[in-house]
Amino acid sequence: VTETVVVEQVDELTQELGDALRRLLPQLSASATFDADLLHRVVEHEASTLLVARVAGSVRGALTLVMYPLPTGIRAHIDDVVVDEEARGQGVGAALVRAALDLAESRGARTIDLTSRPSRAAAIRLYERLGFVRRDSNLYRYLPPSSS
Ligand SMILES: CC(C)(COP(=O)(O)OP(=O)(O)OC[C@H]1O[C@@H](n2cnc3c(N)ncnc32)[C@H](O)[C@@H]1OP(=O)(O)O)[C@@H](O)C(=O)NCCC(=O)NCCS
Repeated sequence: VTETVVVEQVDELTQELGDALRRLLPQLSASATFDADLLHRVVEHEASTLLVARVAGSVRGALTLVMYPLPTGIRAHIDDVVVDEEARGQGVGAALVRAALDLAESRGARTIDLTSRPSRAAAIRLYERLGFVRRDSNLYRYLPPSSS
């Protein structure tokens, strides 16, 4: 039986949501650490929208939708998609990404981008199933010397 997934936008970082994100973020990557101040900034920031997914009332997944105007149009980016290990394969990830796509479209996004490492097989399968198409572009990162 597939449980109903409810996706909601986070307007305030409650203790419950903080606890859920403390559990979820390390499942995103080994280097993702919980930072309550940073999470408050995410929730308060005009460009960022934190979405969480609940199954049977409990928070089981999260993502962040970022939207920003550019001279070429309103752009959107989906980041930090994560579903609790024990709740994977039930459509929680799909419900989160679909909700982000609907929100971005309703706010006038011209494009909605995301990145995913080739090793993230489940994520890639999910994104392609939802209609994301690979772009032929190079992904660059500059690490400021002060960042390490
Ligand atoms: C990617 C992730 C968010 C998906 O969440 P989820 O709730 O399991 O997603 P869904 O149930 O909606 O769909 C998962 C899909 O991946 C498939 N899948 C699960 N494990 C898989 C694996 N190891 N290899 C390939 N596909 C896999 C599922 O079968 C399902 O596809 P299907 O419905 O077409 O069969 C979750 O696996 C996760 O949090 N991973 C770790 C963090 C991560 O990689 N985040 C993405 C960053 S880009």
